[in-house]
Amino acid sequence: MIEDQAKNQIPKEIPHHIAIVMDGNGRWALRRGLPTIAGHKAGAEALKKICQAAANLGVTHLTVYAFSTENWRRPSSWIVELMDLLKYYLKFELKDLIKNNIRLHVIGDQTRLSGDLRQLVDDAVEKTKKNDGINLIIALSYGGRNEIVHAAKAIAEKVKEDKLTFDNIDEEMFAKHLYTSKFPDPDLLIRTSGEMRISNFLLWQLAYAELYFTNKLWPEFSEDDLKAAIEEYQNRERRYGTTVGS
Ligand code: FPP
Repeated sequence: MIEDQAKNQIPKEIPHHIAIVMDGNGRWALRRGLPTIAGHKAGAEALKKICQAAANLGVTHLTVYAFSTENWRRPSSWIVELMDLLKYYLKFELKDLIKNNIRLHVIGDQTRLSGDLRQLVDDAVEKTKKNDGINLIIALSYGGRNEIVHAAKAIAEKVKEDKLTFDNIDEEMFAKHLYTSKFPDPDLLIRTSGEMRISNFLLWQLAYAELYFTNKLWPEFSEDDLKAAIEEYQNRERRYGTTVGS
């Protein structure tokens, strides 16, 4: 009886790692008659708020989709505006990242980024590396298929150079060659704006994640919305391919 009571008091598990497709920034701006970039600015502000809220709730990793490999196909004015916004945040929000104990990581094909953006990314990653609070992982010039091909090539290279054998290749070893090798897999994926797709995000890593979709547009996604997503996650039964109740 006492044991049962104690069990009931154990808080349900918070997802360690949440991944977010921050969708609907453009639509948020359009509905207000604002330029698209205003939507992305509002989206960046929403990210600041949600990152802090996630940290306060005990989430250890937050991965956000900021720019996909497919986004390189958008109009160049759109790309330049978004890249400038990223540069602005990396430059002027760095102090706050350090102060708030947020450790920044960036994943994706960074060879396609401009030299000055890469410099800012490296600087922010370096200056936050001693922080031991939440890990904020920004997927930038990121595509899940691109990442898998990149890993396969790195492994093939090692086999060619006799650093690995064919028999060494298994799931665990493959995962070590992904951009995310240092991080646990996401437990929960949130996508805003009513779209119900993965869109080439963390294809390998989301294998067993719970998926949560909301109609809210990203700039209006609040701390309460985050709590609602976590609550829904806590009520799901994660089975990892096993049968009910096993
Ligand atoms: C997709 O929605 C979202 C993006 C392509 C980028 C999201 C980026 C941010 C919110 C800025 C992040 C800032 C930092 C500092 C990491 P969309 O904007 O294409 O929306 P739409 O589908 O409504 O047009």
